[in-house]
Amino acid sequence: MTIYGQAALTIVGRSQQKARVLPCDVEGCIAICWKQCSLSQQGEGTGSNVTTVDEAGALAWAMADSRRGTRATVDLDAVGHNVRLVRRTIGPDVGVMAVLKADAYGHGAVPVARACLAAGASWLAVATVDEGVALRRAGIDASLLLIAPTFPEEYAVAVAHDLSVGVGSLGMAAELATVARQAGTVARVHVEVDTGLNRFGIPAQRAVDEIAALPALPGLALEGAYTHFVASETPQGGSAGAQLALFREIVDGARARGIYIPLLHASNSGGVLELPGAHFDLVRPGIALYGYHPAGPGSRSESGLESGSGADGLRPVMTLSTRLVRVERVPPGAGVSYNGTFRTARESVLGLVPLGYGDGLPRLLSNRGHMLVRGRRCPIVGRVCMDQTVLDLTDVPGAAMGDEVVAIGRQGEERIGADDIGALVGTNAYEVLCGIAPRVPRDYVGHP
Ligand SMILES: Cc1ncc(COP(=O)(O)O)c(C=O)c1O
Repeated sequence: MTIYGQAALTIVGRSQQKARVLPCDVEGCIAICWKQCSLSQQGEGTGSNVTTVDEAGALAWAMADSRRGTRATVDLDAVGHNVRLVRRTIGPDVGVMAVLKADAYGHGAVPVARACLAAGASWLAVATVDEGVALRRAGIDASLLLIAPTFPEEYAVAVAHDLSVGVGSLGMAAELATVARQAGTVARVHVEVDTGLNRFGIPAQRAVDEIAALPALPGLALEGAYTHFVASETPQGGSAGAQLALFREIVDGARARGIYIPLLHASNSGGVLELPGAHFDLVRPGIALYGYHPAGPGSRSESGLESGSGADGLRPVMTLSTRLVRVERVPPGAGVSYNGTFRTARESVLGLVPLGYGDGLPRLLSNRGHMLVRGRRCPIVGRVCMDQTVLDLTDVPGAAMGDEVVAIGRQGEERIGADDIGALVGTNAYEVLCGIAPRVPRDYVGHP
């Protein structure tokens, strides 16, 4: 059947058969139509007469057939490589809890979860109940911990989806236990102990008493305890040693009160790479799995893992690429992009790419960043716009419309890392990767 008019701009629910996006075959209709969908029982119609369910998913649905030149390629072999590298660093007695929050730092949580598990991760971690539910709905039944705070109204959903919950107070644990008992089940918890971050977790001075009170709560199973470092990526100048000592003291104090805590964990990527004494039962790497050292570009760890290095180092997972959509010669003195913040000093060749801050390319790269064309670094000239960015191609012989352009990744001998971009604009690889917008289609390559 054909849906047309406004309804064509919305989308049927997830349970519906996948529909193909086709031009409308109603004469004069300019809408896109979803054919072969199972709305036929609701009848054909226009405007709001045809009910649709999941408007928020409309773009994602359309992107299933995307031919957009701007794409993020996610290399699942690189994810597997990075997981194995972490495993080699921590040894056989320590497990890997792969941190997949923020849609796996922008890479796509479901495929990355599968790649991590295939490469030997035994736990997954997310920040929100919704992220956990999404993984469960995708059929991922691995142990899964919520490592960020949640509200009481989310507890029932978390428990129903078998998510282990990070708890930051005895009060939270008690409320969670009540919800689990009402559901006729048991809530699994990992206690976060705040050893200095002053963010989430039971403050260290109360931690032993509150942990010791947990067994009195029916409906609760204490599965683990963890802490989070203030600055593990720079151990020399950081507070990680003091935090570790405090964490150990609290665990020993709980043990002395007869509390057995099955799983202890502390290390994020910085801890994995820089703090060999902090691995406990599990480590929680995030950024390292995506190929970057937490300390920024060019960092080399104690264990020799260098971001962006060769086969032995961490391998960046995401490539953000696009293609030249216009190449134009302009005279000297031409102003480029909004407000003419760049003016050509010579006759120049300008290349346009359909990639802008609406795709997650930081606007602060205006007149500062580069992209790779034909293996050369080409300056971004003028303001980065929402959907478009202009490059100076004057020094790239033969650059032509359709040429591949790499914004993050490798081309020939050149490479631009998400960490390089982060350093240029005053942030880090984490924010750059998480910022790659959902409208950029992700292509998955590799079979870990
Ligand atoms: C509690 C917790 N553990 C682990 C991680 C992973 O950190 P990283 O990406 O630095 O490895 C994070 C991320 O911020 C976190 O909040």
